[in-house]
Amino acid sequence: MSALTADALVLFGATGDLAAKKIYPALQQMVRRGHLDVPVVGIARGGWNLEQLRGHVRDCLEKASVLDEAAFARLAELLRFVDGDYDDVDTFRRLCDALAGAERPMFYLAIPPSMFPVVVNRLGQLPCAANSRVVVEKPFGRSLVSAQALNQTLHKVFDESAIFRIDHYLGKEPVQNLLFFRFANSFLEPIWNRNYVESVQITMAETFGVEGRGRLYEEVGAIRDVVQNHLLQVVANLAMEPPIGHGSEPLRDEKVKVFRAIRPLTGRSLVRGQYLGYRAEADVDPNSRVETFAAMQIHLDSWRWQGVPFFIRAGKHLPITATEVVVSLRRPPQAVFPEVTPAQGNYLRFRLGPRKVAIAIGARVKRHGTENVGDEIELLVCDTQDDEMEAYERLLGDAMRGDATLFGRQDGIEAAWRIVDPILDKRTPVREYLPGTWGPVEADAMISELGGWRNPPTGP
Ligand code: BG6
Repeated sequence: MSALTADALVLFGATGDLAAKKIYPALQQMVRRGHLDVPVVGIARGGWNLEQLRGHVRDCLEKASVLDEAAFARLAELLRFVDGDYDDVDTFRRLCDALAGAERPMFYLAIPPSMFPVVVNRLGQLPCAANSRVVVEKPFGRSLVSAQALNQTLHKVFDESAIFRIDHYLGKEPVQNLLFFRFANSFLEPIWNRNYVESVQITMAETFGVEGRGRLYEEVGAIRDVVQNHLLQVVANLAMEPPIGHGSEPLRDEKVKVFRAIRPLTGRSLVRGQYLGYRAEADVDPNSRVETFAAMQIHLDSWRWQGVPFFIRAGKHLPITATEVVVSLRRPPQAVFPEVTPAQGNYLRFRLGPRKVAIAIGARVKRHGTENVGDEIELLVCDTQDDEMEAYERLLGDAMRGDATLFGRQDGIEAAWRIVDPILDKRTPVREYLPGTWGPVEADAMISELGGWRNPPTGP
């Protein structure tokens, strides 16, 4: 075990939703691959004991259809449990007992952010937490000011290098491939700029609604839920300069520069939508003005991207579940073949999920025959690995090893909040749309001059 690897994992919120859906499946996979062999201490209140936690973990894995008996048996051996309130000093004394022998525990706060100050302050008083690191989940605050306050709370106890802020999009294979594809090939660089790129579109579409998360969603809305974090991270991977040097910091430095280059948004470049029926969801205000759809145009003030519009759209209850990037290139400078003028230019399409990952280059080829007319085709590479590492597995493994490359850094998180902060006040009207459609029609107008939104195809 290297000096940096955590030697115990403590999971606050062990009985919660995030642990059930994402963390336990990731832990089982880590065990299965031989990447986890340290104690995993679950902590929650509710009077459970270790056997109940083991049963719960098994149920979660079964529900997620990922139960692997052999791996689960090994995971069950690693599990410990501490029952108690987070504001009770005795809970933390017992946590230290459960951690006996561990010198570098990692604390995963899978709990509501409102509980962070209580838990972090307690951890600051624990001798067994002296060389620890902490993992926190998005959302990192609700605005720039609250993100700064959250960072201050964490910094009272943890150095920035010991804080791992999870945005699971960064752990996704195809999101990382955006960077890899850009910087591991030489053919893109000459055209990857304002001289050749006409516009960039990013669509994150989901066919489902808030799925019982009404209370949480009322607090966030689409902009806080997926734009400020997941989709701005995708923008950073598309727009950043190559990092100078290796390791986590040069790469994170370049991303922060992208966020700083993005102009803060205004209501003029934003359309907010809400699907019909949202207000009747459980725990949703019947007069809610929270958006379940957002479309916006962002501007990057940088040498490479000046004048290239980036469009982002994200929504629930859209016609398909898919996240996709389309980078449209300018048209050929002359209409050598008369048919070229009305056709669209070349483009690159990156399918980021779910599951099917694809990279396509849109081009025109001549149709068979005597006339110089063409057809649009795609040169398509599609990759679906059966045993692909899920984002949470990758990120948890990285955090355990102390590799911060795929985690948010304080300056980056705050710079991203600065971009969306001016549009969080819900002043922009929220427009209704029918479930199963591509959101409010107003979203089409913002991009109509550039040929409209390119909806992800149903195939890869
Ligand atoms: C989460 C959001 O962060 O990401 C959800 O809170 C969203 O609203 C989810 O559905 C999408 O993640 P994925 O990995 O399923 O694309």
